[in-house]
Amino acid sequence: MAIDPYGLGRVVGEQGVLPQRAKKLDPSLPLREGEMLIDVESLNIDAASFKQLKDEAKGDPAKVVAAIQAIVAERGKMQNPVTGSGGMLIGRVKEIAKGHPAAGTLKVGDRLATLVSLTLTPLVIEEVRGVKPEIDRVDIRGHAILFSSGIYAKLPDDLPDTLSLAALDVCGAPALVARYVKPGMNVVMLGAGKSGTLCLAQARENMKGQGTLIALDISQKALDTLKDLKLCDEAAAVDATRGVEVMNTVSRLTGGTLADLVVNCASVPNTEMGSILSVKDGGTVIFFSMATSFTTAALGAEGVGKDVQMIVGNGYVPNHAQLTLELLRRSPSVRKLFEEKYV
Ligand SMILES: NC(=O)c1ccc[n+]([C@@H]2O[C@H](COP(=O)([O-])OP(=O)(O)OC[C@H]3O[C@@H](n4cnc5c(N)ncnc54)[C@H](OP(=O)(O)O)[C@@H]3O)[C@@H](O)[C@H]2O)c1
Repeated sequence: MAIDPYGLGRVVGEQGVLPQRAKKLDPSLPLREGEMLIDVESLNIDAASFKQLKDEAKGDPAKVVAAIQAIVAERGKMQNPVTGSGGMLIGRVKEIAKGHPAAGTLKVGDRLATLVSLTLTPLVIEEVRGVKPEIDRVDIRGHAILFSSGIYAKLPDDLPDTLSLAALDVCGAPALVARYVKPGMNVVMLGAGKSGTLCLAQARENMKGQGTLIALDISQKALDTLKDLKLCDEAAAVDATRGVEVMNTVSRLTGGTLADLVVNCASVPNTEMGSILSVKDGGTVIFFSMATSFTTAALGAEGVGKDVQMIVGNGYVPNHAQLTLELLRRSPSVRKLFEEKYV
């Protein structure tokens, strides 16, 4: 059997469709050539997805678990049909089939986190062992299949697994910040949660003490912590869905010049205009949030006549896992915050 690097053969009933777009995947065993089998321990559900499931279940964790089990049983993968997003998983290598690029470097029993989305990862949940709604985590017994093109990170020995998982889940965001933030910029982090915090820490390093780093979030408490840790120069509580209020806040904090770069890390929909209005003409928005609507962003920018470069927050940036883990190692305060909030 030829190697199938993108897992097209795992798609049920839709010829030529890639697994991420597919309605249903076939997660059955045996393993096929080029694949890797993982004994799954935990699923880290994407923040936008978990929030939607939690809202739908009116906060009842048992109902959230039931909804996740139903999605995975029906689709053979964890892809929230409302948000379209997935998350990632942590587990141990159980088998590496011939032809997988990790054959020879990884061994059975190695612990790893997948860096491709659960939306394209064939998955079976045999048992749910627990749920931690405050960190979007579901502990399970089950298996997942990684295609030969699927990226992963071996879990480091010097950091707790849960800490690594929390950071790796959003590692594309600080890696994009590392690419785009330059000294002297006005940078706004819209949504200062898990990804927002890492982005602030990375932006701080890139800016080298020049420019203004602003954190905006709906939670004043979260902002106070970030200010205490000196992760931002300015912080303001604002509802990111209120576009003009966001713009006025950014205008006030930048002396009327607006932002060179806005990184949208909010976990709710309808935050496109707050981001677009807050950048100056010729500025840039990175839409890391999975709740972003391409239509709203494109038509919205046109509608207000804003010349803005809009970047879709690709979850993959070369070396993103290593960059993020190194950032945590270098920033004891960020690490402590992560341990308190997300582990
Ligand atoms: N592009 C990618 O590859 C990728 C990968 C992973 C995740 N993501 C996406 O990135 C986004 C952020 O993820 P995360 O893990 O950083 O989430 P998170 O830790 O939940 O952070 C989101 C932050 O947004 C805040 N927020 C919620 N509603 C708001 C509002 N109306 N106005 C202002 N702030 C608001 C939240 O505050 P509260 O905590 O008070 O609600 C929280 O601080 C999500 O949409 C997630 O799906 C993208």
